[in-house]
Amino acid sequence: MSDRYALVGNPVAHSKSPWIHAEFARASSQDLDYGLLESPLDGFAATVQRFRAAGGKGLNVTLPFKQEAFRLCRTVSERARRAQAVNTLVLETGFGDNTDGIGLVRDIERNAGVPLAGARVLLIGAGGAAAGALGPLLAAAPALLVVANRTVAKAQALVERHRGAAGGVELSARAPGDCGSGFDVVVNATASSLQGAEIPVDSRVLGPGALALDMMYGPAAQGFIGWAQARGARGRDGLGMLVEQAAEAFALWRGVTPDTAPVLAALRERLSAASR
Ligand code: ATR
Repeated sequence: MSDRYALVGNPVAHSKSPWIHAEFARASSQDLDYGLLESPLDGFAATVQRFRAAGGKGLNVTLPFKQEAFRLCRTVSERARRAQAVNTLVLETGFGDNTDGIGLVRDIERNAGVPLAGARVLLIGAGGAAAGALGPLLAAAPALLVVANRTVAKAQALVERHRGAAGGVELSARAPGDCGSGFDVVVNATASSLQGAEIPVDSRVLGPGALALDMMYGPAAQGFIGWAQARGARGRDGLGMLVEQAAEAFALWRGVTPDTAPVLAALRERLSAASR
């Protein structure tokens, strides 16, 4: 029987992860099956336990269970500990990792071709999505990293948890209306686009030729991307991050690092064909 993996969350129905992992498995000749597991909101631990008891090898975890997954793990990676959120579980050992942030960093540096070392970076949001990103963004050694959030206290708490990982990076927490200007990379990790809300920052945050990346994709990312492009920035959605975080999870489970470029290109093609 093929080794079994799945994405657990609620909802999970529209996830692209099974398709992405099937492509990775095909290209690297790995014998595995990756499915979808919708968990009741009050039954996450039992859902994980059942999947493990049935021989499941690993899980990706999505909303709203990343924090609960973190609490369930026997051991976690350093980046998951700082994020207090886990998106990848190795069920045999009870190990948890968070591959979202490294996925974001790889997408920015490799796929979008924007170096983070020495850059001025603005991260908007301080929820689970921003928490997963902050450690790997710091590890990429930008000159400056500002975390801006509507509830400033949440940004401050997140920044304080990452002080020990900041190295030489000038790291601070600010309110979105007062977070500085002229950033090279602006990452939207808030749910504001999804809610059709106002973009929470002033356009001065966009430096010349800035990369403005929304962690969402499809219509949910369009508000922020359209706003940034209309002001001369380069817009980018979260599809590359999605593929890169999946590749990191795949490598952790299988010991094989998949080639992401053809999978990302094919996924973009599929999504644009579906929206035509
Ligand atoms: P996720 O796990 O997707 O990050 P979350 O933990 O609920 O979800 O966090 C949502 C983030 O979006 C938070 O940073 C939130 O700001 P607050 O901490 O102030 O609540 C941000 N957010 C949601 N709606 C927003 C809006 N309309 N304007 C600005 N920020 C918003």
